[in-house]
Amino acid sequence: MLDLIHLEHKNISRLLALLERKLAAIQAEDEVDFRLIRDSVEYLGSYSEKYHHPKEDVIYLYYLEHYGDNGNIAKLDKEHEELSVLTEDFETTVDMILMDAVVPLDVFADQLQQFIRRQRDHLMFEERDVLPVIAKAFNEQDWLNVRERCILEYDDPLFGREVSARFRRLSEKLFEQA
Ligand SMILES: [Fe+2]
Ligand SMILES: [Fe+2]
Repeated sequence: MLDLIHLEHKNISRLLALLERKLAAIQAEDEVDFRLIRDSVEYLGSYSEKYHHPKEDVIYLYYLEHYGDNGNIAKLDKEHEELSVLTEDFETTVDMILMDAVVPLDVFADQLQQFIRRQRDHLMFEERDVLPVIAKAFNEQDWLNVRERCILEYDDPLFGREVSARFRRLSEKLFEQA
């Protein structure tokens, strides 16, 4: 279960690395395929929101119920909420660009940078300050209990066994950069 969370973090991190390269390209005034940015954000907004955060929420809540707060874990609930709003807002901005609405590129670059930073900070915080604490605290029964409350099997349209047509281009790009 913890392995799955780490794996998903690795996948998210690959998407963020791709976005970082796009940001650098925008800042260098190179040609940028905004559809790849849109697809990345859409993946983060839909599948990551739907399957990644909910699993973490179950784990964090379970920890709070059984081990009390360590000063960090309680605030993750709010962080997930904020990330979800941020992702949704940013998706709207990328869509506007794709619809040829006038969004100054420097404004967009700032927003993209913010988006990447917030996502990265969250990921680092979980990897460094949260998951190790949980790994240390939970016994086998705890893991069984949280597993029962989670959806563990789902078709990941980007990193799963079968890449959906919707994300094929993005998947190819991720593969190229790997
Ligand atoms: Fe999270
Ligand atoms: Fe996470």
